[in-house]
Amino acid sequence: MHPLLERAKKVMPGGVSSPVRAFLAVGGEPPIVAKARGAEVTDVDGKVYTDLVGSWGPMILGHSHPAVVEAITRAAQEGLSFGATCEREVMLAEAVLCRFPWAEKVRFVSTGTEAVMSAVRLARGATGRSRIVKFEACYHGHADSLLVKGGSGLATLGIPSSAGVPPALAELTEVLPLDDERAADELFAAKGKEIACVIIEPLPANSGLLVQRQEFLEHLRKLTRAHGALLIFDEVISGLRVAMGGMTELTKIEPDIVTLGKIVGGGMPVGAYLAKDTLMTQVAPLGPVYQAGTLSGNPVAMAAGLATLKLLEDRKVYAELDQKGATLQKGFQSALDRHGLPATVARVGSILWLSLQKGPAPRAWHQVETAGAKLYGKLHRNLMREGLWMAPSAFEVAFVSLAHAPEHLERATAAFERALAATVKEG
Ligand SMILES: Cc1ncc(COP(=O)(O)O)c(C=O)c1O
Repeated sequence: MHPLLERAKKVMPGGVSSPVRAFLAVGGEPPIVAKARGAEVTDVDGKVYTDLVGSWGPMILGHSHPAVVEAITRAAQEGLSFGATCEREVMLAEAVLCRFPWAEKVRFVSTGTEAVMSAVRLARGATGRSRIVKFEACYHGHADSLLVKGGSGLATLGIPSSAGVPPALAELTEVLPLDDERAADELFAAKGKEIACVIIEPLPANSGLLVQRQEFLEHLRKLTRAHGALLIFDEVISGLRVAMGGMTELTKIEPDIVTLGKIVGGGMPVGAYLAKDTLMTQVAPLGPVYQAGTLSGNPVAMAAGLATLKLLEDRKVYAELDQKGATLQKGFQSALDRHGLPATVARVGSILWLSLQKGPAPRAWHQVETAGAKLYGKLHRNLMREGLWMAPSAFEVAFVSLAHAPEHLERATAAFERALAATVKEG
């Protein structure tokens, strides 16, 4: 074991600050990272990897983009934290609301978890109802109410929920299958008056990439409206990633609350929730729904978000990301086909997922064949050896960034091909 990993394990549970980083689902030793630039990550031993994790989504420009680094350096020189409103915060709020024009106010927090937790509290506070609805396989961070049947970290570790979540609280969380209008209708027919909100990743990307039908999302919009419940689009991954205005823009569906994280902070800790004034006036200091944060709206994090959003202003970047994603998808798919593996590379823009099973990529968790995880574990060890860093879980997606030049995509495809060949040979 690497001496640094050994030291890490002595002082941090599993040697990590977030569970998937420990590589338990795939085996093998997680490298300790020294630095990351553009499309590459370098470990402490100097090994360079082509990176398809992108810090789990935020690094849409690639790592250490010079404009972002310059912006945060300047901001840091002017102060690290004020605990008061600053100009960069106002500017980022304006930039965010520009991309979600139906929304009127945004509140910044420090993580996606906090954004979702606060959005759910707002929904409960505004409706005076307690019950919430989420979907199987969607992950919304680790707030107590949402740690029920949620996403790859839990799926790969085989934890259906989490210890420490009071059953009385978990009981207020209803879990529905994705892609199933009838199940949603039945739940609302039985408990519609008690439901504060439905929360969904409009592009579920935490248990594979389970692309939803437009009609299903529209159905949820109608159903929630009809029953006086709110619809929350958790766009912590998809917001600013699949289009400027995320899935809200692509589907043209107007949810009641959108949550953001990851890209909005450009690699620094930022989350946000946004909604119309009628809802946001319920939030303290204007209303009775309390939510606060010492480091919320932190000037350095705001600077990173602002610089990132500025570089995403031109819609052409989304076409470029789509084209890069398509190149990688094609390369990976032909490698899989050449080796005769029944697998589909699912993709939306710059988000890709290897669906290691026959037939079209699934839309709901019960259609996902978890047997593919064993094969992925073997493949992953070979990928890392070949210098391609992909997520250490069969159910996590890959992210392409604007820093992935044609040579990175070629390198990634060649590494994938070699790793696949080795995996097939191992049997
Ligand atoms: C859709 C979604 N919501 C919420 C979160 C939680 O965000 P964070 O890890 O910043 O707390 C995540 C994290 O991956 C996510 O994918």
